[in-house]
Amino acid sequence: MISQDLNEQITRVGRGTDTGEVLRRYWQPAALIDELAGNRPVVPVRLLGEDLVLFRDEQGELGLIQRQCPHRGADLCFGRLEDNGLRCPFHGWHFDRSGQCVEQPAEPEGSRMHEQIKARAYPVVEKNGIVFAYMGPGEPPAFPEFDCFRAPETHVFAFKGLWECNWLQAMEVGIDPAHASFLHRFLQDEDPNESYGKQFRDKAANTEIPMTKLLRDYPRPEIQVEETDFGLRLTALRHMEDGRIHVRVTNQIFPEAICIPMSREMTITQWHVPVDDETCYWYSMFTSFGAPVNKELMREQRLKEHRLPDYAPLKNKSNSYGYDPEEQGVMTYTGMGMDINVHDQWAVESMGRIQDRTDEHLGKSDVGIIRYRRMLRRAIDAVKAGDETAMPMHGSVALDKIFGPVSTDAIAQDGDWKAAWHDSDAERRKACSWDATLAE
Ligand code: FES
Ligand SMILES: [Fe+2]
Repeated sequence: MISQDLNEQITRVGRGTDTGEVLRRYWQPAALIDELAGNRPVVPVRLLGEDLVLFRDEQGELGLIQRQCPHRGADLCFGRLEDNGLRCPFHGWHFDRSGQCVEQPAEPEGSRMHEQIKARAYPVVEKNGIVFAYMGPGEPPAFPEFDCFRAPETHVFAFKGLWECNWLQAMEVGIDPAHASFLHRFLQDEDPNESYGKQFRDKAANTEIPMTKLLRDYPRPEIQVEETDFGLRLTALRHMEDGRIHVRVTNQIFPEAICIPMSREMTITQWHVPVDDETCYWYSMFTSFGAPVNKELMREQRLKEHRLPDYAPLKNKSNSYGYDPEEQGVMTYTGMGMDINVHDQWAVESMGRIQDRTDEHLGKSDVGIIRYRRMLRRAIDAVKAGDETAMPMHGSVALDKIFGPVSTDAIAQDGDWKAAWHDSDAERRKACSWDATLAE
């Protein structure tokens, strides 16, 4: 357990807060490209507690500027998208994508007041289906050479979903390899051939064992955590009765993403992005090392579970996440259906909007969480000391030298689990149609 002060320090994200200042030094997912697809590409964005509006101008470029008009505060989400920018409907002030006010039609002819008016604006970049924003000081950093960014657009599918809780508890479920044996337990194994686009339904590594069975039969993983250039690598070892070892390698990408295997073909890179202190979005990039992703199918699967435009899940607190005690008896550990996202959502939302960590009791299996919080506190200190190079991906290693991260399941026949996961990953990368080599 930790003090209330520390809990506040590592959860709050507004401007000027300790953790907010750390998060602002990394690119943040702000919207899906899909959200800009309609006739009027203007969407509200609430990110790190700031209200913004994202729009595409006539040159096809994106702007992300403050939502309240700098004149008298009207809502620019209702702006007129015209003249290569966004015009406030109240008095016609016009802003370009950099936030610069370029016209004030009610002011006297020849007035130059607009030159002094600039809406707060943040740089944005499109990457394989997601618009990323940089909300920190100085020049935005480059992107690391992660698989989800290197893979061609055909091999990445992006989606998001709203969770009604603080980002940190959402992220912490992703660095907790033990929970998969319980929260996501299926009491019956379905045919792994029906598993496309879903997690934990494939066969485990190069075996005939369904992942569901393996997680169920071996609930006490040995978890190892090491620091890397990008964050943490978590290795979960499940020692099987016949002497083989199942190895699952997952990652924490600092500050708020994880990268995990989804199936033999795909990985998931998932950010837990604070909307504000009490709400977050998960943004996922599903990256295929095999065939191009079937985006229509994956989108359809997920749109069945979410409503637009806010991507709120249809199963939620108001309908008890679809909880069915009968199902809990015979089918699933939770009684909340087969979609593991709903299980995670229940776990993290049921803790309360901001988990009271003064009353938690971490065990050995929570080692990933303990190590992550330590890393976050070090980053907070680094920002305060003005020594940002002490933060992951901020200069100590060049970003074009940071690859992967390797996320895989493997079986070690002979006890050499390190070789097993390296080999299984190398095999996948070698057969990949795009350049997935882990260059030095
Ligand atoms: S409030 Fe926007 S132009 Fe007046
Ligand atoms: Fe989970």
